[in-house]
Amino acid sequence: MDKTKIKEKIESLRREIEYHNYRYYVLDSPVITDSEYDRLMRELIELEEKYPEFLSPNSPTQRIGAKPLEEFSTVAHTIPMLSLANAMNKDEVIEFDKRVKKLLGVHEIDYVMEVKIDGLAVELVYINGEFVLGSTRGDGFVGEDITQNLRTIKSIPMRLLESEHVVIPERLEVRGEIYMGKKEFLELNRQREITGEPLFANPRNAASGSVRQLDPKITASRKLNIFCYAMGQIIGIDLKTHMEFLDYLKKWGFRVNPYTKLCRNLEEIFEHYNFIKSIRDEIPYEIDGTVIKVNRLDYQAQLGQVSRSPRWAIAYKFEAHEEQSIIKDIIVGVGRTGALTPVAILDPVNIGGVVVERATLHNEDEIKRKDIMIGDHVIVTRAGDVIPEVVRVITEKRTGSERTFFMPDKCPVCGEPVVRPEGEAIRRCVNINCPAQIKGRIIHFASKRAMDIEGLGEKLVDQLVDKGIVKDVSDLYYLTKEQLANLERMADKSAQNLIDAINNSKKRPFNRFIYALGIRHVGEHISTLLAERYKNIEELMVAKEDELINIPEIGPEVASSIVFFFHDEKNRQTIEKMIKAGVKIEYKEEGKKPLDGLIFVFTGTLKRFTRDEAKRMVESLGAKTSNSVSKKINFVVAGEEAGSKLDKAKQMGIKVIDEEEFIRMIKEAGI
Ligand code: IVH
Repeated sequence: MDKTKIKEKIESLRREIEYHNYRYYVLDSPVITDSEYDRLMRELIELEEKYPEFLSPNSPTQRIGAKPLEEFSTVAHTIPMLSLANAMNKDEVIEFDKRVKKLLGVHEIDYVMEVKIDGLAVELVYINGEFVLGSTRGDGFVGEDITQNLRTIKSIPMRLLESEHVVIPERLEVRGEIYMGKKEFLELNRQREITGEPLFANPRNAASGSVRQLDPKITASRKLNIFCYAMGQIIGIDLKTHMEFLDYLKKWGFRVNPYTKLCRNLEEIFEHYNFIKSIRDEIPYEIDGTVIKVNRLDYQAQLGQVSRSPRWAIAYKFEAHEEQSIIKDIIVGVGRTGALTPVAILDPVNIGGVVVERATLHNEDEIKRKDIMIGDHVIVTRAGDVIPEVVRVITEKRTGSERTFFMPDKCPVCGEPVVRPEGEAIRRCVNINCPAQIKGRIIHFASKRAMDIEGLGEKLVDQLVDKGIVKDVSDLYYLTKEQLANLERMADKSAQNLIDAINNSKKRPFNRFIYALGIRHVGEHISTLLAERYKNIEELMVAKEDELINIPEIGPEVASSIVFFFHDEKNRQTIEKMIKAGVKIEYKEEGKKPLDGLIFVFTGTLKRFTRDEAKRMVESLGAKTSNSVSKKINFVVAGEEAGSKLDKAKQMGIKVIDEEEFIRMIKEAGI
């Protein structure tokens, strides 16, 4: 095939894949199976690897490829990104409508009504249909360049869809809201709780924290999405109305919110507002109201703006799901990882149908930032419609009898001193024998997604640990029926049931076993990666940091936490004790792979692939990779300008191969 044909083939594959991304991520209605999609993707990856001269940052293969940045650069918006004035009630909307009609000198106006999504505004720039720049709103005039992070959001087109009668403008600036769904937010926090990372207060903070990551891999791992709703500068197309613009957006492949409606008068506006309000809780992302926009673009231009808001639009907000309460006390809980978390004990209050009695205050910095004192009157909401959160203090209601809260210097459970590592917001009890930590670890170990020991609830764990019967998770497998039957509220039958449940949990897949160990920063996903990479627990226990870092998605922090965990004699004994008691970890029956047992080191620059791609390839064939040359290494693959590693390999008599030989080898092995 000649090069132009190859280029055409690559282009057409990219278009095809982007179209299927659009079907899946924008329309939510795929037309091919996952395996067909994977096949197209593999074909494209192969061609791009073979012909790197045709690589493009907008290729669907590059959505998570970019390297971490040192810092974000700034971007000046061609047209400032304004904010919206608010209407809090019907009267203010009537006022808005009157003002608009008076300024334009007309009696009838069409409005477009949209939902107001609670996320963060971004701008996407397309030149001749290609995505070239993405930025945050910033202060409205200057934002940050987050192009490579936005590429990871699959519902953002990297290239505008082409179809008949649809013009591709020379320059197109589209604005929209990046958000995280309620379910995704709760799941992310659940994972962070497990890995001991600070929780996000609400979906908006989670979305904004995720998009402002220097490492696009982190952004890619967060489930973000976008709705597009406004324009910046557009050159090369003549539009008459906002509705027409939204229709174009859909045709170009952007996600536009389905609850958008053309309203011809106030009556229709109030009707749509009430409708949206009635379904608010069922909508899978947070909205804090609606937005009313004048439909005709010439009218919009005529109306212009006052201060930093357009005169042609207004946010018609919902009353927040917020209620008043009083902080009766602040207690401190100790989690599985030793993290001390202050929790507000509230006067019970009904928020949108749910009674709330406590709310996490996250950490001492949060308490300081929100200026919270014991005895304060506060506004409480439910973040992600679920998690109780103190929004702010009503300082006007202070009487002087409020008390400042101080985080304890000693663990409230075991009395040992606590530490707050530099740069971290959280104090931790570092006594791994602290009963609170032991209890937390056991509850995690027994939880459904870990070893799934039915019936081993919090109350029971409290008794087992307080009585000194269980000191670590391995003790569970040595419990006798008699021991259990002696506990409070434990009948003979339930003791037997629990023993059965513990026995049943002896056989669990490797990934769940790893997850159950409760290694810091190792959630379900990382556990699965580790189970795929290592044959058995013994291999994982001796894994080196540099080897772990080579696993895609595992960073230095996670790697060192894994090594630290298995380095601890006590943890190793616990695992051994479990195995002695008959715990059988189930390993995947994997067919032997062509490069099983071999270890590769890559050095120098390869022409056809990045080092990470090459590593991934040999790993998928069963081999391992390392960053340093030692006697254990079977092959050193030397690219251009290979340095000291090559010298060392030669000295040690290790087989050195060049890129050509390497390619021959992996082709033979089946890639
Ligand atoms: S239009 C000039 N439409 O609300 C008008 N904004 O306070 C530009 N937002 O910064 C914004 N949903 O982050 C518009 N359907 C929607 C919106 C929306 C959410 C946010 C956006 C903006 C803020 C304005």
